[in-house]
This record gives sequence, C-alpha cells and structure tokens, in this order.
Amino acid sequence: MSGGSVRPATLLAGQNVLHPHSPAEHSITVLWWVMLGGAWIGLTLVAVLLVLGWVRRNRDALPFGGGERAATRLVVGLGIVTPILVLTGLFLWSDIFVIRSTAAPARGSTALTVQVTGHQWFWEIRYPGMKAVTANELHIPVDTRVNVVGTTADVIHSLWVPELNRKIDLIPGRTNSVLLYADRVGTYPGQCAEFCGLQHAHMELLVVAEPRARFEQWLHGESGSARPGTGAEAQRGQQLFLTEGCADCHQIRGTSAQGQVGPDLTHVASRTTLAGATIPNDRTDLTAWLRDPQRAKPGNKMPELPLSSRDIAALVSYLEELK
Ligand code: CUA
Repeated sequence: MSGGSVRPATLLAGQNVLHPHSPAEHSITVLWWVMLGGAWIGLTLVAVLLVLGWVRRNRDALPFGGGERAATRLVVGLGIVTPILVLTGLFLWSDIFVIRSTAAPARGSTALTVQVTGHQWFWEIRYPGMKAVTANELHIPVDTRVNVVGTTADVIHSLWVPELNRKIDLIPGRTNSVLLYADRVGTYPGQCAEFCGLQHAHMELLVVAEPRARFEQWLHGESGSARPGTGAEAQRGQQLFLTEGCADCHQIRGTSAQGQVGPDLTHVASRTTLAGATIPNDRTDLTAWLRDPQRAKPGNKMPELPLSSRDIAALVSYLEELK
C-alpha cells in the first residue's frame, strides 16, 4: 500500500513446525512424520480391504481362503489387536521421549533465564539481573539452553516458537517454563497460540539467535538508558513524547516517561518490527502507526493522539534515534 498507510502483516512468512532447529522440536517433528506415515498405511489398508470386499461381494470365502473363523481372526487382529499395539507404542514413545525432550528445563540446567509476559497484544521481555526490557524480539545466544519463564498481564496467551519447541500457556497468577535452544544463528518467528482477543493473530514475536558475543553486546546496549534526542527535530520529538500523553503508557528509561501500559520504548529503534512484530520498524510505518494506530491493529490500546503531521515527524525522528 502507498500513501504512508501501514503495511499488512506479512513479516512472519516461514513459520514451519516441520523445520526443527532444536533437539526438542526435532523429536516433535519425527513423531509427527511417523504418525502421518502410520495414518497413511492404516488408511490405505482399510481402503484396499473395502475395495476387495466390494469386488468379491458375491463370494463366500476370503481371498486367501479360510472360513468364518479366519474372517473373525482378521477382524480381531486388524481391528482390535493392531490398534492397541500401535496406540500403546505411540503413547509410550510420546510420553517417554517426546514429552521428556520438550519438557520445562530442570532447575539449574540452563545458562540463561528470560521472562516473557503476554499482553493484549505484545510480548514484554525481561532479562533477570539486567535492566533490559524489550518487546516482541527475544534475543538468545545460539547453541545455548535458555529457560523462558512466561506469565501474563491480562488474559491467557500461549507462547509458541514452532521451530524451537512446543507451546506453553501464559496463565494469570502463575508461571510456566519452556526451553528455547537454537542450533543455528537466525530469526525464528513465534506466535500467540491461544485466542486472546481481537488482535490475537497479530501477536507475533521474533526469536533472534545470535553468537554469544553479539548477544552480550546487544543485552548490554538494551540495559542502558536512552540517549537524549540530538538535533532540534528529535529534541522537539522528545519534548512532545513527554508532554503529549505518550509517556503515560510507555517507558523510556533515562527520561521521565515511566508508563507501564504499552511496550518499553527505551531502545525501540534497535528492533526490526513494531506492534507485536506485525509492521516493519521504519520511518514510513512508524509515521502511519502514529497517525492511525487502529488501522494496523484495530482494538489495540494505543489511542489516536491529536498530533499534527509536523509533531508526528518530530516524534518519529526522536524514536528512530533510540537505538
Ligand atoms: Cu495472545 Cu493470542
């Protein structure tokens, strides 16, 4: 779309539950393929028997001989014994191997803990022991076991990064954990997987797995306070941010903006996306977002502020400096 309107949510093309990038997701994928293969074998067998039964409907004997006893044996064998054996096998496999490999990490078995809080409709991300607070982009070091502890600030959400592990529900008043481990540097899209209101489908996140040194550098940067706006335009933007209502909902550490309703914006320009990872973080989309926040995500809590185009331009200049 042109004219500064917000682009649709196409950022997360490529979520694929069958492209595992962790041992946990690998075990889920193998189970899935085995179940699909088994289901096809079962379906084919039943279809062949059905066709055979119809073709030979006027004969008394089974195709391979035998009388009524053989027919009973066939029904008991394929209809009762085989399903019991197959289902018991699948149950044991999923219960012993898959559930164990995808389970919440044991205490002390991970190198890093990250706290994720679900909000309508964004993800708040904190690193215990550090001041860093970010939104919708969860950075982790590659080849590292990370304990993600999730809860919610409002309704039930579900955190799901399909290429890394199973889902966990984020439930009011309690915490659930999931192990995130990425075997390759890259960006892994995630999604809220529990209906949580109007913009549930626009509650996305990115897991960014990077080399440890780069991750440490990022975390260090995110933990610092925001730098004041430079240049007249950005300074005016900062002033507007602090006086025109933005600061009531958003925090920018290092300024008097201490709102806790919306995402922390201290280093908003370091993120690649905005609005629950639904629009790119650039001047055009941020301008469109500020002009009409309800257009990209109808129902979200961001109000339309009575700002002139000049004021919005100044705000964008300020925010896009917050690296
Ligand atoms: Cu949050 Cu669906």
